[in-house]
Amino acid sequence: MTEVVNTRNALFEAKRSGKTGVVMTMGALHAGHAALLRTARAQADFVIATIFVNPLQFGPNEDLARYPRTFDADVAMCEAEGVDLVFAPPVEEMYPGGQPVVTVDPGPLGGQLEGEHRPGHFAGVLTVVLKLLNLTRADAAYFGEKDYQQLTLIRRMVRDLEVPVEIVGVPTVREPDGLALSSRNRYLSDAERDLSLSLSRALRRGGAQRTVDAVLATAAAELAGIDVDYLELRDPELGAPPAQGSARLLVAARIGTTRLIDNTPLELS
Ligand code: PAJ
Repeated sequence: MTEVVNTRNALFEAKRSGKTGVVMTMGALHAGHAALLRTARAQADFVIATIFVNPLQFGPNEDLARYPRTFDADVAMCEAEGVDLVFAPPVEEMYPGGQPVVTVDPGPLGGQLEGEHRPGHFAGVLTVVLKLLNLTRADAAYFGEKDYQQLTLIRRMVRDLEVPVEIVGVPTVREPDGLALSSRNRYLSDAERDLSLSLSRALRRGGAQRTVDAVLATAAAELAGIDVDYLELRDPELGAPPAQGSARLLVAARIGTTRLIDNTPLELS
């Protein structure tokens, strides 16, 4: 049975034993979230899923108000995946004093890639992630590679601030045609959905190349006519790309009013 709680006191009182794993989400759960829940279920004794649409990480012109809310279906998925406890606090429970005054500074990487197009986004993400780690007192936390910069910054925060938790990355779950699953995919019209396939195609074809120039040229060709925010090749920690070895290709683009992101690992030689 999955227990659902909305307050920190109820969260603290829940009986648990062994290793606690947490999966943090903003709800509107899909098969990508399910993969995180399944990994947590396989590795931890007590699994907590958090559902909280964090206002701090949305810009004034972003989709906070229209962010999809499917709470009953979310709890049903948590139930099906064997989650022990769902923590779904209202905004006042997470931010009782209003906007927090002390927040986590994501450093230089927080202003690049996604951060360049979404000012303040990663400060909002890292602040809520640290709060949820402290509230859940998790031993391990599971995040998707779909949001690769988010995962990288969370790993960096945990390392730099000595947060006592293990961070586990889970590979991106895709539709059979390649589109990375996202809560925002439901905004796409049929024509936009077709167009959105050029992101994963660009990563697949670019990712099959072996030099920096060939990767970027091949990927860019697939994105012709698309409103691209960035297409960048970086090293696995999102520093400058190496000439050889492991790298990460990342893309963000607007399809109509919907903003999509995706990324892939690749090897340069
Ligand atoms: P949300 O977008 O709901 O995503 C929750 C978790 O699911 C994140 O770790 C994300 O990377 C992962 N995820 C989403 N789509 C995925 C996919 N197709 N394959 C694998 N994993 C996927 O990311 C957030 O919420 C928030 O920023 C949060 C971390 C909860 C902080 O508010």
